Amino acid sequence: MEKELEKAQKILKKYNQEQLLNGYEKLDEEKKKILLEQINNLDFDKISELYENTKKEISFKDEKITHMEYVDKAKLSKEEYDKYYKLGSDVIKKGKYAVITMAGGQGTRLGYVAPKGTFKIGGGVEKSLFEALSDTIKEAQEEFNTIVPWYIMTSRENNDATEKFFEKNNYFGLNKENIKFFKQGELPMIDTNGKILIDEKGLVKLAADGHGGVFEAMSKNDCISDMKKRGIEWIFISGVDNVLAGLVDPIATGLAIDRNTLATGKSVVKRNPSERVGVFCKKNNRPYVIEYTEITEDMANAKDESGELLYGESHILTNLFNIKALEKISKNKLPYHSAFKKAKYIDENGNLVVPDKPNAYKFEAFIFDAFESLDDMSILRVKREDEFAPLKNAQGEDSPDTARQLYIDYINRKKNKKNN
Ligand code: UTP
Repeated sequence: MEKELEKAQKILKKYNQEQLLNGYEKLDEEKKKILLEQINNLDFDKISELYENTKKEISFKDEKITHMEYVDKAKLSKEEYDKYYKLGSDVIKKGKYAVITMAGGQGTRLGYVAPKGTFKIGGGVEKSLFEALSDTIKEAQEEFNTIVPWYIMTSRENNDATEKFFEKNNYFGLNKENIKFFKQGELPMIDTNGKILIDEKGLVKLAADGHGGVFEAMSKNDCISDMKKRGIEWIFISGVDNVLAGLVDPIATGLAIDRNTLATGKSVVKRNPSERVGVFCKKNNRPYVIEYTEITEDMANAKDESGELLYGESHILTNLFNIKALEKISKNKLPYHSAFKKAKYIDENGNLVVPDKPNAYKFEAFIFDAFESLDDMSILRVKREDEFAPLKNAQGEDSPDTARQLYIDYINRKKNKKNN
C-alpha cells in the first residue's frame, strides 16, 4: 500500500488536490485502500476541465436553431395510425423491443430517502412507482403475447436497495430472468475553488453522472451485447419518475421505422411560452433539445401559420432508440453540465459540514445531448394526460399529489374505455 500511497500523493500534489488525504491516517485499512484506488483512478485533467467549464458561458451565437417537424398522435388518420401500429406491433410481438428505466437519480427535490422508484403513489393507490411501471410492462407482454426485457439503471448509492425491493416484491410477477439492473457512472463533486470534496466516510465525494450516463453505463455493463443476444432492435428509455410513461409504444416504433429514423422522441405540447421545459428543435440541422435557459424570448413565443408554438414540443424524457443508434451514441462522449447543489462534506478539520445553501458542483450528462449524433429522429406528440405524470417535488407542481391524480384519472379513463 506504501507504493499506492506515494503514487496518490504525487498525483494530488500535481493537481493541487492534497486535501483528499487529510483524513487518511484515521481511516481503517479497507477505506484506506478504497481511497487510494479512487485517487489513482480519477481523471484529474477531466475534473480540472469540468471546473474551468463552470466559469464559461454557453453561447449559441454560431449555431443555427430551427423548428423540428413532429407528428401529432391525436391527429393521425386511421390509415396512418394502422400503418404505424402494424409496423410497431410486429417488432414488439417478435420480442425485439426492450425497456430501460433510469433510476439512478438522487431525487433530492422529492426529499425521500429510499430509491425514488420505491415511493408509493399513495392516496388509495398502494403501488410504488416501480410497481406501476411493471404493470405497464406486464400489460404489454399480455397484449402482444411477448417478452419485454426490462433494464433498470441504478447508482452505487441506490442499487442494493433497489434490487432488494424487487426481490421482496417478487419482481411484481415478472420473470426475474428478464430484468437486469446496472449501475451508472459517477463523477466527483467539487467546491467553488475546484477542490474535490470528501464524503462522510472519508472517501472521494461522488455523485451519479446524469441520465446521459445511461449510454456509457449500458456498454460498460454489457447491456447492448445482452440485447443483441436476445435479438432486441428497439429500446425505449425513460425515467423512473413518470408514472404514466408509455413504455411499450407501437406507434412511436412504427413511426421511426416508416420515416427511416433511428429514434423517436415523444413530446407534449408546452403549456405556455415561458414554461420551464426543454423543447425539441434542430441545431445545425440535427436533432436537439434547447433548454428553457437557452431559448430566446422571441423563439419561445414564435408561432407557425396555424398558431402553434414553433418551439412547443417539450422533451419529457421518453425516447425510443434503435440499437444501432445506441451503439453509435455509446462511442461518443457526451458533454457534462454543471449544477450547483447542496452537498455535505468533511472539512479540513475533519468536521462534517451540512450546508444550507448550494456549495458544490455536480456534473451531469443529459440524454438529449446524444440526439445530435443522429442524422434525424422522429418526434411524436402525445397527450400530456396520457403519458406525462412527473414526480419531482415534495409539494406543489409535479408532486405526489399531482402525479397521483393524473394516474388515477388515467386508470379510470382506461376502465371506462374498456367497459364501453
Ligand atoms: P432528474 O434530473 O429529475 O433528477 O431525473 P432526480 O434525481 O430524479 O431528482 P433531483 O433533481 O435530485 O430532485 C430524471 C430521471 O433521470 C434519472 C432519475 O432517476 C429520474 O428518473 N436520473 C437522473 C438517473 O438515472 N441518473 C442521474 O444521474 C440523474
